[in-house]
Order: sequence, then structure tokens, then C-alpha cells
Amino acid sequence: MPEIDPRALRSAFGSFLTGVTVVTTKDEAGVPHGFTANSFASVSLDPPLLLVCPGKFLSSFSVFESCGAFSVSVLAEGQEDVSTVFAGFEGDRFSQVAWSSDGQGVPTVDGAAATFSCRTHKVIEAGDHIVLLGEVVEFSSTGQRGLGYAAGQYFSLGLERAAAAAPVSRREVLAGAIIERDGSVLLEQTESGWRPLQLNLEGRTHVRRTLSEYLSAAGMPVILGKAFSIFEDRKRGAHYTYFHALAETDAPVGLGEYVPIAALPTLTFASEAHAAMLARYALEFETRNFALYVGDESDGDIHDLENGSR
Ligand SMILES: Cc1cc2nc3c(=O)[nH]c(=O)nc-3n(C[C@H](O)[C@H](O)[C@H](O)COP(=O)(O)O)c2cc1C
Repeated sequence: MPEIDPRALRSAFGSFLTGVTVVTTKDEAGVPHGFTANSFASVSLDPPLLLVCPGKFLSSFSVFESCGAFSVSVLAEGQEDVSTVFAGFEGDRFSQVAWSSDGQGVPTVDGAAATFSCRTHKVIEAGDHIVLLGEVVEFSSTGQRGLGYAAGQYFSLGLERAAAAAPVSRREVLAGAIIERDGSVLLEQTESGWRPLQLNLEGRTHVRRTLSEYLSAAGMPVILGKAFSIFEDRKRGAHYTYFHALAETDAPVGLGEYVPIAALPTLTFASEAHAAMLARYALEFETRNFALYVGDESDGDIHDLENGSR
């Protein structure tokens, strides 16, 4: 048998798409405890059973291992912040979110897609975790969509479906490059303000190759790097993918102007989304740790591919 590499195993487990829950209980002194868990599963309808797996590493492990009652709140789309609090906030997590007490006096997260109040049915020893089986004594469900989680990142089916369903005729698909050379970036000035070079793909696929060929043909060969920002500008009905790029030559006349990165905060940009993107670029340029933004013009996630999501 080949040896099991725990990191590879964790990553393989992570390919299973799950929801996100917050598991809560109260200790003997009445102090609430809670942690984020995606190890939730429904188990049985008759009797009504569910399970969740608290890790032995949890600071609240002994409380969950011996609790007589606990609750599970299934987080709704948009509750990423609640998940983050219950996955890592080191102070009083319950001071950071809105919550209520259920019929057993156990906290449940307000605004959750569903909550299940359980009596502990069984605790099963399971390696570095336990399996905590609960008998559901009370539950509620709002019909909201649950928040999704896969491969270390949150996803929202609602948002993704809405993006896919945006009327195609009103949707421009653009690709652009933030081209860097000696501490400056190449920008062009438009009527509405500055922006990096971009191209309307007009139905062409192979975004990276098309952009690269376009820039070469325009006399601006670049080394195209990682994607830096992928966003939907809903006001314009446009979808943008911007790449990081290094210039191989000076820019030909008429193809924009190199602006020192330090001067970016003084410019007026073509849109809010461009301003936010270049503000992040200027900040990340200081450490050269460029992350990837995925979202829309006002809200999204920053995926730091080297250090995990922010
Ligand atoms: C999406 C997600 C799912 C998680 N699932 C579990 C889980 O099923 N079991 C578990 O013990 N920890 C899980 N964790 C980690 C705990 O939430 C985290 O280690 C815990 O809140 C730390 O609490 P502590 O500081 O009190 O030890 C998960 C974290 C995230 C972000």
C-alpha cells in the first residue's frame, strides 16, 4: 500500500462540495461555544439524526465531546463573514454575529438557511475527530440558498446562476492586461478616466491567447502572467478578466502611457471597479504578492493563491 500523504488527502477530501455550518453549544457555566464545520451530514429521518465531526484540536473540543445538547446552523449565501468568525476569531465569537437562543437555550446563528437543535445521540471516536451524532428535537428552515464550500473557497450558487443568466446581448466580455515596466504601469486615458489596455473579445474564446496576440499585433508584446482580477460590472453589463503582464518593450506611440505605480492614487479611473483594482495593485506591488479578485464591481473575494483566501 502506498503511504498516505496527509496534505494530498486533505486536498482530495476538499474536492467534495459541501455547505458550511456553525455548530454551537453551551458549557456548564452557560458560556456559548461554536465552530465552523463542513463535516455536517444528514443521517436519518426516523429517528431524525444528523452528524458533525468536531476535531480534537478545537479549543472547545472537551465541551462538544461531553455536551448533552448542541445546534447546527446551516449558513446562507452571504454569510461568509460568520463562517470566518467561527473558524478563527479568537475573542468572543458571539459578540461578532447576530444570534438567538433555541428551545434548549443553545445559540443559533440569525439569518441561517436552516437551524437544527439536537440532543446528543451518540459520540463516536474517530481518529483526530469525533463523530457527534445528534437527534433533532427542533428545526427551522427559511428556504434561502446555503453557502457553498469547495477546495478551500466559498461559492454561491445564486450569484453564479445570476451571472450565467445575464442577458447575452447586453453582456460584453473583455480581457485586459496591467502591463508593468520599471515600477510603472501602462494605462490609456478614456473619456471616463484611466484604465489598463483592454480588448473586447466579441465572442472569441482562448482569452489569454487572444489577448496576447492582440497586444503583439498592436506592437506591445508582453509576458502575460497570472489572472489578477475577474469581475462582472453589472452596471455596464460587462465581464472583465485582467492579467498581470510584464512589458518586453516600450509602448508604441498612441498606445497609452506609463504611469508610476506610486502615482496611481492620484488618477481618476474609468470606473469604480478599475479604481479598486488598481488601488489593490499598488498595494500588492509593494510585496509583489499579487492575489486574484473574483466578484463584481463592488463585492467579491480575494484569493491569495500563495497564502490562502483573504
Ligand atoms: C469551511 C470550514 C469548515 C470547517 N469544518 C470543520 C469541521 O468539520 N470540524 C472541525 O473540527 N473544524 C472545522 N473547521 C475548522 C474550525 O472551524 C476551526 O478550527 C475552529 O473554529 C477553531 O476554533 P478554536 O480556535 O476554538 O480551536 C472548519 C473551518 C472552515 C473554514
